[in-house]
Amino acid sequence: MQNKTPEKIQELFNHIAPHYDQNNDIISFFTHRFIKKNVIETLPELPANARILDLCTGTGDIAALLKNKYENVTGVDFCEGMLKVAHRKHKKINFIQADCLNLPFEDESFDLVTISFGLRNTENYDKALSEISRVLKHGGIFVHLDFGDAHKYADTVFHNVVKFIAELQGDDSYVYLLQSKHEFPSVEQLVELFSRHGLKYETRRDYLMGIISAQYCVKS
Ligand SMILES: C[S@@+](CC[C@H](N)C(=O)[O-])C[C@H]1O[C@@H](n2cnc3c(N)ncnc32)[C@H](O)[C@@H]1O
Repeated sequence: MQNKTPEKIQELFNHIAPHYDQNNDIISFFTHRFIKKNVIETLPELPANARILDLCTGTGDIAALLKNKYENVTGVDFCEGMLKVAHRKHKKINFIQADCLNLPFEDESFDLVTISFGLRNTENYDKALSEISRVLKHGGIFVHLDFGDAHKYADTVFHNVVKFIAELQGDDSYVYLLQSKHEFPSVEQLVELFSRHGLKYETRRDYLMGIISAQYCVKS
């Protein structure tokens, strides 16, 4: 995809950071909150001292849900604007500004790595996944959440809703959202990609007629 350089992505998210949460509520009719909660609630139970990493953490939604259950949660994002909001909302979480294509952590340091609506925005899926696999312990869990293989009807409705809101707000970031969604691999292709990085697919949960999908993997 054109213009998916780190600089462009940082510029985009710095621009939308102050409205990011509100925009998510609008385009998803608040459902993203329940979906994220459900994804975390349905995770297998981990030891209380598990080390957890939420990549592309944005304003920290997933990191905060994890922090309700576990003490040791780190959120990583390379966008200062998004992290500023995250810090303001979740004072007890350890947020680090870093690129998930080059993570500042030792090999096999985490029991769980999550990435929600993030991989799609990275410049190089292979590099991101190789970093995820590197920092995950053997037997550790990887959870990926993003757009999935939507039912055709649901996809058309979603597309039209986003286009309508984009026109109403005159915001170009929605054009990027639809384009990146369109170009994102199918769940089947993603799972194949994960497996090439030693992340063995276990199960998936689909939401909103497949518009959103979560895949759960284990590092083999
Ligand atoms: C759509 S937001 C998702 C935020 C949050 N995870 C959620 O589910 O609402 C995507 C985030 O990925 C971050 N991001 C994209 N590429 C990144 C990279 N290479 N390294 C770190 N963060 C990245 C962006 O800065 C942005 O905050």
